[in-house]
Amino acid sequence: MGFYTDVVLPFFYDTSMDSAKINEGRQSILNKITEDEILEIGFGTGINIKFYPENVKKIIGLDVNEGMLKQFNKKKLKNGIEIQSIHQDGEQLPFPEDTICGVTSTYTLCSIKNIESALSEIYRVLKPGGRYYFLEHGLADNLKTQKWQHRLNPIQKVWAGGCNLNRDIKSLINNAGFNFIELNNYYMKRDPKIVGYMYEGIAVK
Ligand SMILES: C[S@@+](CC[C@H](N)C(=O)[O-])C[C@H]1O[C@@H](n2cnc3c(N)ncnc32)[C@H](O)[C@@H]1O
Repeated sequence: MGFYTDVVLPFFYDTSMDSAKINEGRQSILNKITEDEILEIGFGTGINIKFYPENVKKIIGLDVNEGMLKQFNKKKLKNGIEIQSIHQDGEQLPFPEDTICGVTSTYTLCSIKNIESALSEIYRVLKPGGRYYFLEHGLADNLKTQKWQHRLNPIQKVWAGGCNLNRDIKSLINNAGFNFIELNNYYMKRDPKIVGYMYEGIAVK
C-alpha cells in the first residue's frame, strides 16, 4: 500500500467508474437481486449502492483496500439500507460456510490476486442454492483480441491496481463449483475490445 493505492486509485475509480455507460451494466445485474442481504466483494467506493433494488436492506461491503472504504465513508447514504463495510481480503472470507444468502461483485475478479481462492471462498460461504451476481470484464471471445490481452496484461496490472485483462471469468466461476442461471457476454460500446468484453450473469451454488 502507498499513496497511489490508498488515495489516487480510490479517487480515480470513484470518478471514472461512475459513468452512464458502466452504470447501465450495474443496474442491469443488481436489479435482479431477490435477497434482502448481500455480501459485495470488492466494494470499492460503494458506487453500486444506488443500484440495489429496494428489497435489499443490508449490504456487507468487503474490500482489501482501506483507501477505497475511506472514500466510500465520505458519501451520503441512501436511506433505509444498512451498510457494514469490512476491510478484509476476499481470499479469506470471515464467515462460516453456508451462511450468506447472496453475493455480488462488479469489476473485481480482474484484480483479486488469487482469484481461485476468492471464488472458492464465495462458494463456501453461500448457502446451498445461494446466488452470486456478477458483472466482470475478461478474456475476449476471439483470438486476435485475446493475443493483445495477453501481451498488454503486465502493463495493465502495474497502472490499474493489479487489474488483469485476460481472465476467463466463465471458466473460473464454473471451476469453483457454480452452475450458471444466466450468462450474457457482450462488448461494451465504444470501449477498446481488450478491456470491454463483459461477463454479466448469475451463478448458483
Ligand atoms: C476496479 S475496482 C471496482 C470497485 C467496485 N466493485 C466497483 O464496481 O466500482 C476493484 C476493487 O476490488 C478490490 N479488491 C482487489 N483485490 C481484492 C481482494 N483480494 N479482496 C477484496 N477486494 C479486492 C479493490 O480494492 C477495488 O476496490
